[in-house]
Amino acid sequence: MKIMAFVGSPRKNGNTAKIVNAIGKGAQESGHEFEVYNLAEMNNKGCLACDACQSKKVDFCAIDDKLTILLPKIADADCIILGTPVYMIHVSGHTKNFLDRLRPFLEQHNIPKQLPGKKYITVTCSGAPAAAFTNVTEYLNQLFGYFKMENAGNIIGGGLNEKDGIMGQPEILKQAEDMGRKLR
Ligand SMILES: Cc1cc2nc3c(=O)[nH]c(=O)nc-3n(C[C@H](O)[C@H](O)[C@H](O)COP(=O)(O)O)c2cc1C
Repeated sequence: MKIMAFVGSPRKNGNTAKIVNAIGKGAQESGHEFEVYNLAEMNNKGCLACDACQSKKVDFCAIDDKLTILLPKIADADCIILGTPVYMIHVSGHTKNFLDRLRPFLEQHNIPKQLPGKKYITVTCSGAPAAAFTNVTEYLNQLFGYFKMENAGNIIGGGLNEKDGIMGQPEILKQAEDMGRKLR
């Protein structure tokens, strides 16, 4: 299985990245390919609403940036992992810009293409307790569900104000590794 992971936190190797990498560790132990990308390093300013993807002027996206290069790889992947910190009660801006750039995976009239049937895992991290922002996970499930993707797990980390806060919650890292190991 080819797994592509995206981390929407500008904190290098912060809580979100550590959980996503733990999923990757488990997945690699089960023989899966795992690649992780930091969305904050991609200078992705989001969709320009040029409609080139909808009018089929381009295969994927008319924007000349690193994310456009990755879109065909997403089409080819079996599983997408998306990790985001909770920023102002929602996904981070880097994450939202990434999600907007998935529009090439919608045909006109919003019919999903290329993503249906792929698995996905979400990871969210917040300073507040985990129960406070399940709305962010619900939003991501709604969005990936719209693309007819298959939920392979949601990890919701809370109480994570410090960059290394997750090191004090080894049970979450274990849950992440197990989730990756069980991917089929
Ligand atoms: C701009 C900004 C906004 C934030 N907004 C929230 C919030 O609305 N609720 C919350 O519980 N934590 C909030 N936080 C804290 C982060 O969600 C938390 O520290 C998270 O673990 C960061 O993940 P990271 O280590 O992967 O960057 C915010 C942090 C920043 C920098």
